[in-house]
Amino acid sequence: MKIGILTGGGDCPGLNAVIRGATVRLQKDGHDVVGLRDGWKGLLTADQMPLTRADVEDIHREGGTMLGTSRTNVYATPEGPEIAEKQFKAMGLDALIAIGGEDTLGVATKLTAKGLPVVGVPKTIDNDLSETDDTVGFDTSINIIAEELDRLHTTAKSHHRVIIAEIMGRHAGWMTLYGGIAGGAHVILIPEEQMSLEELTSILETQYERNGYAIIAASEGFKLIVEEDEKEIYQDNEVDSFGHARLGGVGKQLENLLKEHTDLQVRSTVLGYIQRGGRPSARDRVNGTRLGVLGAEMVLNEFFGYMASIRGTEVLPVPIEKATGKLKTVDPEKYRVAKIFFT
Ligand code: F6P
Repeated sequence: MKIGILTGGGDCPGLNAVIRGATVRLQKDGHDVVGLRDGWKGLLTADQMPLTRADVEDIHREGGTMLGTSRTNVYATPEGPEIAEKQFKAMGLDALIAIGGEDTLGVATKLTAKGLPVVGVPKTIDNDLSETDDTVGFDTSINIIAEELDRLHTTAKSHHRVIIAEIMGRHAGWMTLYGGIAGGAHVILIPEEQMSLEELTSILETQYERNGYAIIAASEGFKLIVEEDEKEIYQDNEVDSFGHARLGGVGKQLENLLKEHTDLQVRSTVLGYIQRGGRPSARDRVNGTRLGVLGAEMVLNEFFGYMASIRGTEVLPVPIEKATGKLKTVDPEKYRVAKIFFT
């Protein structure tokens, strides 16, 4: 068989471990493996590269993706799905492993329904895919956030300041919650939970009085209550090919609001792309390897339309459709634990 592998959406640490795991497992049974460059774009343009054992030898220790990535949406044009099918056949592919988040695997769901033999592997620093406990990249990102918050503590403490760290994660607060707990943020603001300005200032004043400084971990998707309406803050009006606007700017807006309503010295900083750059954690290397091997075995056993998933300590196939049907957001119980420390 000839099997293609692609990585789509935002990059993250651990993608190379998945590519390596799937490639080595498939080649063990004598199959040919090719990488499609830059996500679904590689399928639409038949842009392929052979993957040998030597190509993937040590890549699981490196961040990013050796195949490149893009936010190309096969369904952005009416002819996209036909082109994808035609190129799949033209390249002589027998199956495809799509490594991605909600958008990439959403395309995989639709292509599978059309009859293309596709399996999925979940990755995203946002950890917002359903039907899997963890996504590749999440663990590294929360380790980075914890380290960045550690650094903000020392400067905030020295200057007796409130520092707001704006954290990625789109409409799910996993990165902010887990990174924030690990990094000892005094207040954690996530999209799933509301907090009024009065409540926030009251928590800050208590924390400031006790510690002489405070750190706020704020999700980029945290909805500010502006004139009684909840508002997401966007960087600009541009949307990507999946129709998503780029979130960002909530940290600065919070800074301005807090300056207006308190006497505290407030600063904000955007942790930005640092959160998904660099080498993967050991856990993401292991998860990536296990999910890559499972993805390959799902191809060998014709589990098309399924996604490799992590459930507890096990990895197992689940229907992709279920994983992409609904965003996995933070449940109130997990936020309750964080809130205990806001006093
Ligand atoms: O989905 C991963 C992610 O890093 C989000 O946390 C963030 O909102 C988005 O990608 C940024 O997108 P881009 O890489 O297109 O700027």
